[in-house]
Amino acid sequence: MDATRSHDHADPADPADPADPADPADPADPADPADNEAELFWERHYATRSGGGERVNPLLAETTGPLRPGAALDLGCGAGGDTLWLARHGWRVTAVDVSATAVERVRERARELGVGDRVTAERHDLARSFPGGEFDLVSAQYLHTPFPLPRGRILRTAARALRPGGLLLIVDHGSTAPWSWNQDPGVHHPTPAEIAAELDLDPGQWPVLRADRPRRRATGPSGETATVTDHVLVLRRAAG
Ligand SMILES: C[S@@+](CC[C@H](N)C(=O)[O-])C[C@H]1O[C@@H](n2cnc3c(N)ncnc32)[C@H](O)[C@@H]1O
Repeated sequence: MDATRSHDHADPADPADPADPADPADPADPADPADNEAELFWERHYATRSGGGERVNPLLAETTGPLRPGAALDLGCGAGGDTLWLARHGWRVTAVDVSATAVERVRERARELGVGDRVTAERHDLARSFPGGEFDLVSAQYLHTPFPLPRGRILRTAARALRPGGLLLIVDHGSTAPWSWNQDPGVHHPTPAEIAAELDLDPGQWPVLRADRPRRRATGPSGETATVTDHVLVLRRAAG
């Protein structure tokens, strides 16, 4: 496990969830430029960086290391470090991201690493569509974006896509790293308890296995290191 994984990905605005309609999102209106803003932002982000960012997130490795491999869903897979690590450890992974470039790179890297048959990479704007299937693990690692995102609804959908006994692993930033884009001292990082409240799931059906705020050393894009805090929430779908 690489305990000093770089956080060289784009850093979040506060992942607020102002709107959380019970119904699926409205289809995108191609006439509305706001509909494409997030996609363009993340597309530019991945199109202008050449490789890198392929290390597994430490909490993903720590949580799944002891598990028997099954079907996993990586929400906001980015450069694909988690997807590739899972596939190399025997998981069948559906990797999704709003950036077509990120998705294509993950697909290509999986092929290069000889695990292409275990990786299905799909482009989804999770505010508008969600991949099909049932999973033993759904992972959302730093699913942060500077744009409004109905995280509560997305993560609830993720919880419902779990097979009985499956895990939902959510890891968010709990502190602002020195290299973060958003240095607003007033930024609020929702606590694990707040994330759980936002999910609003029946604790009898989705009991909480872990809700804490571990600290670790992380390495920034220029090699600098800092201690950061993660906000971790792990739920399990009750068996049967
Ligand atoms: C902060 S990065 C984290 C990437 C990766 N999970 C990691 O830990 O390195 C957030 C990721 O979420 C993706 N993302 C942002 N908004 C999204 C959306 N609406 N639908 C799908 N993916 C989205 C971005 O493209 C980006 O790859």
